[in-house]
Amino acid sequence: MPQIRIYPDTEHLAHAAAEHLVTVAVSSIDDRGSFSVALSGGSTPRPAYEQVATMELASQLDWSHIHVFWGDERCVAPHHPDSNYGMARQALLDHIPIPTRNVHRVLGELAPDEAASRYEETLRQFFSPEHEGEPVTFDLVLLGMGTDGHTASLFSRSELLAEKRRWVASDQVDQTTGWRVTLTPPAINAARQVTFLVSGRAKAKTVQQVIRGPRQSRLLPAQIVRPKSGNLTWLLDSEAAALV
Ligand code: 6PG
Repeated sequence: MPQIRIYPDTEHLAHAAAEHLVTVAVSSIDDRGSFSVALSGGSTPRPAYEQVATMELASQLDWSHIHVFWGDERCVAPHHPDSNYGMARQALLDHIPIPTRNVHRVLGELAPDEAASRYEETLRQFFSPEHEGEPVTFDLVLLGMGTDGHTASLFSRSELLAEKRRWVASDQVDQTTGWRVTLTPPAINAARQVTFLVSGRAKAKTVQQVIRGPRQSRLLPAQIVRPKSGNLTWLLDSEAAALV
């Protein structure tokens, strides 16, 4: 069962998410000497990233042991306003002493399939499983969720929801949203810790359906997130948790 933590408002939620990220980082470095995190995009996590950048505890982290990835990326250049990398860079990465080589962005400026295959190669090299096919094991995958129940760039009825082999794939969501590159369910579900960060009354019904409703992951992709052996946590503000 997922752990559900509810906070009174978005400010408390952002602080809790920042503390969560730093806490998992400290324990990962203590346990294994490094911390790998796949950041979420969208607007919800930005205040949390900004808080990490200013946290006393974060300033005590050895960022040379921390590797930053993304759960998904829009197929745009890194300086494009829609870039998830660009958002994280402005909110966090430009304000911490993380080595450039430890920031593993999706090359959104490339053609979608090329960006996806290059990112998959990056993951395979970084996680270098002894045996082919072993899953990529992030210490933490941060996820958001849309009002339609999508997460990362796994949207309802996408064939990627049934992906079993690839860790990364590209998808044209629709004409407006355009092409995305995303971790697939196997890559997300192999993580040691997966944490949803969701706020706002508009998502309350979807949160209730995803957590409490019948399994229908083709329609509610957030339900596909079921870590094989890792922990699943929902960090919610009281509005998003109103119906849970
Ligand atoms: C993205 C995210 C996406 C996001 C949700 C929620 O690239 O946009 O990965 O999955 O987390 O759409 O977005 P908001 O936080 O902006 O509501």
